[in-house]
Amino acid sequence: VEWTDFERSTLQNLLSKIDYEFVGQQALARCLVVYPWTQRYFGDFGNLYNAAAIQGNAKVAAHGLTVMRGLEQAAKNLDDIKGTFTELSVLHSEKLNVDPGNFRLLADIITIVVASVLGASFTAEVQAVLQKFLSVVVSALGKQYH
Ligand code: HEM
Repeated sequence: VEWTDFERSTLQNLLSKIDYEFVGQQALARCLVVYPWTQRYFGDFGNLYNAAAIQGNAKVAAHGLTVMRGLEQAAKNLDDIKGTFTELSVLHSEKLNVDPGNFRLLADIITIVVASVLGASFTAEVQAVLQKFLSVVVSALGKQYH
């Protein structure tokens, strides 16, 4: 994957503007509410009984931040996202048995949450860069599945 200077700077600028804790918590909570089958992977997260419980669940919030930290690592290694995520892909496939279709769902929710946070500064150009980045992330996370 090739990245232009514009894409690199747009992505860094975007990531510097968002609150990882907020975006991570909102994105993971919404994912668990809107796509309830994703709850099955978080059996030890305690009460995911309804939307309010999910929104208030501290483990969901903590894990949302973990996901965002993962994205931060990918953004720091734009030229080798695949290599950066090799272990993470093995973990999700072989240990966690996460259906890789769910990566796309979470990535799209992250895009929606970022859009709602950035408002007018979430231009079409910014959206295109974020979606390109998340597509590469989703592909890299799915690489070790076989
Ligand atoms: C763990 C990133 C999508 C389920 C993790 C970890 C990271 C991560 C960084 C921690 C790994 C470690 O502890 O070494 C991501 C990223 C995603 C993504 C960047 C996509 C944008 C998903 C999806 C699911 C999922 C869609 C399930 C629907 C899990 C589970 C764990 C985990 C169950 C272990 C949680 C725990 O028990 O602490 N993920 N993940 N991930 N991920 Fe993902």
